[in-house]
Amino acid sequence: MTIRTENIAKHYGGIPVLKGINLNITEGEYVAIMGPSGSGKSTLLHLIGGIDRPTEGRVWLQNHDLSALTDDQLATVRRRQIGFIFQIYNLIPVINARENVAMPLIIDGVKRQDALKRATAVLNIVGLQDHAEAFPGKLSGGQQQRVAIARALVIEPSIILADEPTGALDTRTGDEIMALLRQTIHQTRCTILVVTHDPRIAARTDRIITIRDGEIVDDTPLKRNAHLSGSVLTG
Ligand SMILES: Nc1ncnc2c1ncn2[C@@H]1O[C@H](COP(=O)(O)OP(=O)(O)OP(=O)(O)O)[C@@H](O)[C@H]1O
Ligand SMILES: [Mg+2]
Repeated sequence: MTIRTENIAKHYGGIPVLKGINLNITEGEYVAIMGPSGSGKSTLLHLIGGIDRPTEGRVWLQNHDLSALTDDQLATVRRRQIGFIFQIYNLIPVINARENVAMPLIIDGVKRQDALKRATAVLNIVGLQDHAEAFPGKLSGGQQQRVAIARALVIEPSIILADEPTGALDTRTGDEIMALLRQTIHQTRCTILVVTHDPRIAARTDRIITIRDGEIVDDTPLKRNAHLSGSVLTG
């Protein structure tokens, strides 16, 4: 799915947090968003993902203008098209890994047994087949983030929005998590936006967008876009 923002601004209590962001992201593109704390990165992700609405301007996903949607319609787009991954995993502690992964499907009306079956398949993909019955509190940080990724992937999203997905993980586990996300792009046409403070992670994307004080100050395409031509990229 393509993402286009048309001069979007966001104010909180009259204070501008984003100031006229114009972005064009193509389908299957893997984009890093960088910038200092408080510069508006998470806010931008929330507007693109329809978690929040801009004060001015429009967000287009493919050819859909999100501003034309009711709150219910927006919630449906979020539920069916967008996989969110956060620094804090936001897993439900009182249900097991498989049930956590199945939850977006169950909320969307998929029959419980079918949802659990699909959750099992995605848990296999993220390497957690042996932990499907475990409750989140019994899993390591990296395993919990894998569950969160599986939960994002289970809906077969068109867009993945990841906000510092490795922020709470050690370097090695973070690398594994990012490798898993890259693998996802190879296998689907999913568009991925990842907010990161880690230059190593950013260097492995197709494009780095830098935000400062609510404005894009740099937008650099990288040459490493091998997945668009279908070749295998393991670095
Ligand atoms: N719901 C809100 N109400 C009021 N102000 C907000 C709200 N959400 C964000 N802000 C303010 O907007 C600015 C941008 O916040 P945002 O969370 O987008 O920054 P960020 O770039 O993601 O920072 P970080 O790297 O620390 O996560 C900050 O000054 C923040 O205090
Ligand atoms: Mg943030």
